[in-house]
Parts: sequence; C-alpha cells; structure tokens
Amino acid sequence: MENKHWWKNSVVYQIYPKSFQDSNGDGVGDLRGIIEHLDYLKKLGVDIIWLNPIYKSPQVDNGYDISDYQAINPTLGNMDDFQELIDGIHDRGMKLVMDLVVNHTSDQHHWFQESKKSKDNPYRDYYIWRDGKDGHEPNNWGSYFSGSAWQYDKDTDQYFLHLFAPQQVDLNWENPKVRHSVYDMMNWWAAKGVDGFRMDVINLISKPQGLPDGKKSADEKYANVQPIVANGPRIHEFLQEMNKNVMSKHKMITVGETPGATPEDAEKYASLDNKELNMVFQFEHMGLDGNDNPALGKWNDKKASLSDLRANFSKWQEKLMGKAWNSLYWNNHDQPRVVSRFGDDSTEEYRVKSAKMLATMLHFQQGTPYIFEGEEIGMTNAKFPKLSDYVDLESINAYHQLVDDQHLLDGKTMMKYIARNSRDNARTPMQWDDSENAGFTDGTPWEKMNPSYKQINVKKALADPDSIFYYYQKLIKLRHDLPVITNGDYQLAKGNEDDPDVFAYLRSNGDTTLLVICNYSKKTLQRHFDVPADAKLLISNYADDAGDSIRPYEAKVYQY
Ligand code: NOJ
Repeated sequence: MENKHWWKNSVVYQIYPKSFQDSNGDGVGDLRGIIEHLDYLKKLGVDIIWLNPIYKSPQVDNGYDISDYQAINPTLGNMDDFQELIDGIHDRGMKLVMDLVVNHTSDQHHWFQESKKSKDNPYRDYYIWRDGKDGHEPNNWGSYFSGSAWQYDKDTDQYFLHLFAPQQVDLNWENPKVRHSVYDMMNWWAAKGVDGFRMDVINLISKPQGLPDGKKSADEKYANVQPIVANGPRIHEFLQEMNKNVMSKHKMITVGETPGATPEDAEKYASLDNKELNMVFQFEHMGLDGNDNPALGKWNDKKASLSDLRANFSKWQEKLMGKAWNSLYWNNHDQPRVVSRFGDDSTEEYRVKSAKMLATMLHFQQGTPYIFEGEEIGMTNAKFPKLSDYVDLESINAYHQLVDDQHLLDGKTMMKYIARNSRDNARTPMQWDDSENAGFTDGTPWEKMNPSYKQINVKKALADPDSIFYYYQKLIKLRHDLPVITNGDYQLAKGNEDDPDVFAYLRSNGDTTLLVICNYSKKTLQRHFDVPADAKLLISNYADDAGDSIRPYEAKVYQY
C-alpha cells in the first residue's frame, strides 16, 4: 500500500538483538543471527522490523547507553553485517526501524568524556550539570532505576542528571547544538536506508524550567520523576523541529515511546496531520496491575481486571479515532510475557488458548500492532527463583532499595514480584528448537534460558497447523486484507459495558462489521450477542462454534 499512511495497516516485529540468535558462539545474539531468520519473519507476515539498540555501547543497560551513535556494537557485528541485514529486509519487502536513544548517552560517549573535563569545556552544556544544594543533590528526583537521579562529580564539584542509570547521562535539549547533532545523526542513518525510528522515552527530553522538586509519599525516598519530566514545556517545539529537519525529508515511520502520555497528549504527538510523530507507544494499560503503594511502583503480583483493561482500551480507541494513531502491544523488552501476565500459563491448553485470545483482543483494534520476539510462539515468563539468576539492573536495584535499604518488603515477597514483573522475563533467549540452549547459541547464553524451551519453540510451532504462530500469521493477514481493521470505527457490543469476564467490541466502516468476542476467564459462560444470520466466523481459537456458550479463554470474530 503506497500511500502517505502506509504504516497504518502494517505490523511491527520487535527483535531484541542480544537474545534473538547467536551466530558465532559467544553467547550473545548478533546481526548475522537475525539475517538467518529473515525468511521466518517473512513467513509470519510482518511488515516492519524494529531492532533494540545495536550501536556501540558498554551495555550497562543492554544498549540503551550509547557511546557512539554511528558504530555497531562489536558483539553484534559491524557495518557490513548491518548493510547485509538491511538489504535482506528490503529484498523481502519489509522495513527496518532503529531505536533512537537521545534522552541520554552513555557516560563513555565522547561528548560526556569532554563535558566532565571542566566547567568551561565546549561540551559542558551538552548535559545537565547543577550545583548541589546544602551539600545534597540539586533536587529530590529519583532515578527510574532506584536511588537519586543525580550523580556527584568531585572533579568539577557539580552534579549531573541521569533519569536512568548513572552511566546514562541526560542530554541537555535546551542546547541547539545537541539537537542539531541528533538530527544530523538521524539523517545519516536515513541515508543508509533506515526506514524509521522508535524513539526511546522521547517525551522526557524537555525538562521543566528550574528543575523543581517533585511530590513524594512518606515511603518514597525520592520523588517519582515521571510526572515532573514527562511531556515537558518545549517537547512539541523540539519534535516539530526534528520533524522539519529529519522526518519531512524522508519517507519514514516514527514511533515515540511516551510514558505518562494520555490520549490528549497523543493527539499532539501523533496527530494524523503528521507534524511530530506517526504514533505513540504509551503505557496506560501496562500500569493497570501496578502496586497501590507508589513507593513499590510496578512491583506487585496482581492480575489486571478485564474491566480496567476494557475501559482503558476503549478510551484510547474512542479518543484517538480520526485524530491520532496509537501502537497496540502487550509485550516488549521491558514487560513480562503477555501469556503469563494477562493470560494463563498454568496448563498447555490454557497457554495456547489464552495467548490466542489476548492476540485477538488486541489485533482487531485500531492502531499498529507490535509483536515482541517469542510472543508469536507463546513464550512464558522464566520466573527465575533467585536474585542471582537476574541480569537486569532495574530488578536488582529495586530489590536492594525496597528490601535491604528501605525494608518495605521482605525478600520472599519481592522475589515473587520480580518473578512476575522483571524485564528479564522478556529477555531470555529466543526458543528456536528443543536442542541445547534452544538453538540460540553454541556457547553460554548471556542471559539464562527459560527452561520451557523443550515444550515451547519455533520448530514445534511451525510443525503444528494449530499453533499460536499460525494464529498470529492469520491475524496479520486479516489486517492486510480487511480495511475495516485499520479504518473502522470502534464500539463496545451492546450490554458489554460491565461484563467482568467477556470483552466484546465492534469495528465497522459502513461496508463491513466485525464483532470481536473474548473470554478473559477460564469459566464457560453463557452470553448472548446479536449475531446476524449471514455473519461468518472469521477466526476463532476453538475448532467449532458453541453459539451463546463461551468456553475458557475463547476468542471469536464474526464478519458481516
Ligand atoms: C526505555 C527502554 O525501553 C528501556 O529498556 C530503557 O532501559 C530505558 N528507556 C532507558 O533508555
């Protein structure tokens, strides 16, 4: 579909390169490993491949700490491999989206190496330096990865800001030289053939004037920084400037990771007149199972209720309709596995049924769907039992802060929460087959394998016509074939407003109507929907149709 909004009926597949396929036995996935599987992705039918950061990086946060924006990290390959990868993607009619991490750089980036040398270094103002206040940090902001968001530098007697790890130093977007260096770098990648960018925490780049203290509860050691820095005062000016300098010059797709964005914010970031970005990647539905105590944040083990999910999905569908564009996702490299979190991995039958049901619930909405590697075969949380099994700094720091430092949780409870919510659940290597290390590597995997690979792997999925893989393949094909999925309006089915277990919605564009019915529970329920006699069953995760009787985790879609 060659038109201005070509990305609207596209499906994105996200690859976490370190965990996808190792081609040289060092235990770390690499670009040549991805090249080996391009036909697999083509078979699935996706249109766009998004790679998590592959640039040169000390890997403190797995590549989200970039030390050179114009080089490939040596463990992943080199520029020749990159060229072969992008050619391979384009030859198969797919597109490549790179991760753009420009809220911060690594402390090893030469800009920061210069910046920290002295207060009058020409790069000093590339970052956010402040004097301390009465011998303390300049304000009470907390880092996303625990502790203060400020790090003291004794050589120049000032603090620098890092919203994430101390080795991820926030760039000063108030400085036009920073902004134009970023635009030049983006244009350089576009000239290499890159088709777009996923922009890491892009709505955090404009900090509020004066960097004021934030509010915090009694249990919180530092203030949650998100409400203070998200959607800052100059954000739209910066993105419009970026659009003018970069996006408007290329046929490019852009998606902004925007934590804390509401539908009203999304209307500005991703309005259909394309002044800023093509779509947002927002987090409201990911927050529905968070802890009521703000000091514990995401650390919890509750399951989101269907009522909350339905209300949230419906709000986004209704508010953005005809105005702006959203990403549709259950999973990414920062989230636990969908089937363990929102579905049911307690039995093989329920794993398969609930994975397909959740895919159905999401893929018939308006927006651009994202599939995270392994989701298409129903990979589950690894649920590692010991802290030493985990690699991710977010989980490890949170344990130390909440258990050892603040004593807000006991170790056992925190390990239960980590097993459910750690980002490592998403990052265990891709499960290709049931051989040692799931065919991911001949060496020692950089992150432990999820032991489930003997049962859950690509080889098995491809051999079973009823697998989750082929269900996703069908969902993608339906999006390509049926315009109503892209352009239809959205409405809850009559009487569905308060149903605690079944989610039913309609999509309609005047020509075609789809009725989507999903049972979020393992109960068999009686529900009546007015299904016209000439409606045909388009897709279902059961072999037959039981009419008004809706079986455990059943999903079905009628077309009329
Ligand atoms: C969001 C990314 O998705 C996450 O993985 C990373 O740790 C932070 N941004 C910091 O770059």
